Parts: sequence; structure tokens; C-alpha cells
Amino acid sequence: MSVNRLDPLVGWGNTPPMWRVALLASVILVLPACDKNRINESYWRDRGAEAVMPLKKNLKRALVKGLEEGPVEAVTACQAVAPAVTQGAGSQIAKVGRTSHKLRNPDNAPKLWMQPLLEGYLTSPDQMEPRVVVLDENTVGYVEPIYLQPMCVTCHGTAIAPEVQKRIDELYPADRATGFESGRFRGILWAELSRN
Ligand code: HEC
Repeated sequence: MSVNRLDPLVGWGNTPPMWRVALLASVILVLPACDKNRINESYWRDRGAEAVMPLKKNLKRALVKGLEEGPVEAVTACQAVAPAVTQGAGSQIAKVGRTSHKLRNPDNAPKLWMQPLLEGYLTSPDQMEPRVVVLDENTVGYVEPIYLQPMCVTCHGTAIAPEVQKRIDELYPADRATGFESGRFRGILWAELSRN
């Protein structure tokens, strides 16, 4: 029994010196590489929330203003703020946008890194907090969920007025973004944040 417990140490003792050097060297080399993937999550969540804030505000403003003119005219209002490079607080450069599992505009399709996060929100509705991921040594990805509000159902709901539906069909023949009820998960806001 006691021999068994010592086995790993005996094994190490038997390792030829050159191998030991190689093993230690690989640990030393790998550690800093792992560090690059370690980030202060709450810091980057705050940066992400700041980066998507202007997009959120602009969209809301464009929608409210558009809907005042009538829902048919407003159909393009939701388009008002395309993915853009914005200057967030603290001069962090960020690329921001929206995507969804049920797209209206195929140009908003999720990038590769967003797909598992989007999937995560769909499969774990009890874990809807914003998320951050390391994309590469220069970039952190941020996502947060978007929910349907009562005003959104005019164009994404279950009972869309025929003239609004007609306009949507003309502009977005591949539309999949209807049938949502207020309060439902609609997609994500995302940001690609520069780490430098
Ligand atoms: C007046 C009609 C209208 C209203 C109201 C509206 N949308 Fe949209 N929505 C659209 C259109 C049109 C697009 C396609 C935009 C584009 O071309 O990028 C869109 C796209 C989106 C997208 C991007 C993903 C995709 O499917 O292309 C999200 C997310 C979204 N809407 C959420 C919302 C939310 C949340 C609300 C309420 C706050 C809302 N929309 C209200 C018309 C509308």
C-alpha cells in the first residue's frame, strides 16, 4: 500500500534528468500563455456594457421616432444602427452589433465566437447574465441578451398587421424574426473590445 502511494514520486525519481528539465521548461513556457486567456471578467463585462450602450440608445430612439410616423415607415428604423466601430468610455475601441437565432437580416448572422454563447442563452434560460470571452491576445468578446419589449411585437410579434408584414416581406424575404411574445429572448448585443 505504502509503496503504491509513493509511486508517483518514485516515477519522478526515475525520470531521466533531461526529461525533467524538459517537463519543467514546458510548464514554465505554458504558464504565461495561459495567463493571456485569463481576464478580469467583471472589468471586461463593464467595458462591454459601456460599448453597447450607445447602440442600445440609438436603436431605441430610432424605433420610438420611427413608430411615431407609423409602423410601416418604421420597419427600417430597427436597421438604423448597423454594426459600427464606436469609441467607448476610456477610449477603448469596440466593434458592436446585434445577432439572433431567428434572423431578420441575414447580414446580422452570428460570427463563429458568438454561436456557442447564443446557444448557451437558448439552452440555459436560468443563466442569462452578460458573458465575456477571450477572442485572441488583442480582443475580448462581450455578449448580453436582448428581450422583447411590448413595443417590439409590432414587427417581431405573433400578430403583425398585414401592411407591416408586407413591408417586412419586401425588404427581408428570408425573415425568421416573427412569432415572439413580449418578454422573450430575442438575441444578443455583442462587442469586440480591444485589450490594448
Ligand atoms: C418597426 C418595426 C420594428 C420594431 C418595432 C422592432 N424591430 Fe427589430 N428589426 C426590425 C427590422 C426591419 C430588422 C432588420 C434590421 C437590419 O436590417 O439590420 C430588425 C432586426 C432586429 C434585430 C437584429 C437581428 C436580426 O434579426 O436581424 C434584433 C435583435 C431586433 N430587431 C430586436 C428588436 C427589439 C428588441 C425590438 C424592441 C425594442 C425591436 N427589434 C423592434 C424591425 C423592427
